[in-house]
Amino acid sequence: MKYVHIKTFGCQMNERDSEIMAQLLANQGFQSCEAPEEADLALVNTCSIRDKAEQKVYSLLGQLRDLQAHCGRPRFIAVAGCVAQQEGERIMDRMPAVSLVMGTQQFYRLPELLARLEGGERRVAALDLSANFVIPAFQKAQKPALAQTAAVQRFVNIMQGCNNFCSYCVVPYTRGREISRPLADILEEVQTLVAQGVQEITLLGQNVNSYGKTNAVADQALRFPDLVRAVAATPGLKRLRFTTSHPKDLDERLMRCFAEVPVLCPHFHLPVQSGSNAVLARMNRGYTAESYLDKVATLRHFRPDITLATDFIVGFPGETEADFTETLRLLETVRFAASFSFKYSDRPQARAASFPDKIAEEVKAERLARLQAVQNAITLDTNRRLTGQTLDVLVESANSVKGQGRTPGNRVVHFQVAPGQELPLPGALVQVRIEQAGPHSLKGTLQKRR
Ligand code: SAH
Ligand code: SF4
Ligand code: F3S
Repeated sequence: MKYVHIKTFGCQMNERDSEIMAQLLANQGFQSCEAPEEADLALVNTCSIRDKAEQKVYSLLGQLRDLQAHCGRPRFIAVAGCVAQQEGERIMDRMPAVSLVMGTQQFYRLPELLARLEGGERRVAALDLSANFVIPAFQKAQKPALAQTAAVQRFVNIMQGCNNFCSYCVVPYTRGREISRPLADILEEVQTLVAQGVQEITLLGQNVNSYGKTNAVADQALRFPDLVRAVAATPGLKRLRFTTSHPKDLDERLMRCFAEVPVLCPHFHLPVQSGSNAVLARMNRGYTAESYLDKVATLRHFRPDITLATDFIVGFPGETEADFTETLRLLETVRFAASFSFKYSDRPQARAASFPDKIAEEVKAERLARLQAVQNAITLDTNRRLTGQTLDVLVESANSVKGQGRTPGNRVVHFQVAPGQELPLPGALVQVRIEQAGPHSLKGTLQKRR
């Protein structure tokens, strides 16, 4: 038996890629292990979205190198993901203990690359960025039949890459051009997962709502709303979500899905980044604060109970106090249920790295704290409005006294199970009466089964 230790940084895309690598290795007789000092292979799947993400990778690689020097394990150290794509062989120059570097579209070759290391090669790099969804080995690696986990919720990749080139962002360089996966492959994967007992599917991509617009692989006439309806028609699927969408590609056809497709959860992550039109233009986002607000209003017209979430960047080059105030105003206008907010960070190759008028670190920190304080108050308030209501909860875990799950709006709910009450198993859809609201979750009591 051989052991692999995998550490994953970054987004759900990386989580899914790590799952695929674990599956590929399992086919080679590898088991996953928690302790790197027991591993034949330590695999670090990296993220490069912000500077801090990259620093974390190098500090972990340093620890693995020291472990290897002391106890000979992990025998091999490999790096995959966005930092691997961006830095390539430089990682092995800086950290010679690393013997394998795989780009974001090469990791499916892991068994073959590992065999080269085992055959005595000291440094192996595979970094080509090409159209993977047309490569049979990659398609095979995506097949969920390899997995067989009893998960309640799973991600299904529908596209890779990004063509948007937001001026701050590294993703178009680390993930390459946008390619949509063929509909038949997506449907087959969803059907297999549902047959395995998966209840909730999240369609995954950097820019899901441009699905089908820019590629040679998917059916040319098929657009994202068509894909949503096709996936939603899978018998047995209880919940459908998708992430992430770009506001410029949000049209009424997609909004209508929230009104017309029953399994589509009323939850939408729609990153706005800033409330200032001058900043949005320099970010190359392709919309204004007004057009974003218009789309939110139309979305709420189609689905009044929709829960909205977003991303913000504070301290983008040249962001004035007035620009930042407009961001706060947008947040207060939309009243997002949740947001992820970040201090702007220069990224290699991204255009904004060369923009003038960089914002001082203290100013960024101060703006971030102000934004988060406003968001926290709004989140708490929107959560409190749910107390007294009875909500549908998809159970993720439970024992005889308590359990946890999520609402259609993606809020985490902790619930109590009364003595003698039927134990809800993971994957069950139950009803919970909400009694208490906190900033990050809701608490309530399980209601009798209908
Ligand atoms: N494709 C998605 C997610 C991109 S990365 C999208 O378009 O929304 C997730 C978030 O990280 C972005 O929405 C943005 O808010 C943040 N981000 C990206 N690059 C950044 C940078 N250079 N500095 C700070 N935050 C960044
Ligand atoms: Fe980055 Fe913009 Fe693409 Fe999102 S849409 S991945 S922020 S370039
Ligand atoms: Fe990070 Fe790459 Fe995802 S930069 S956020 S792991 S696409």
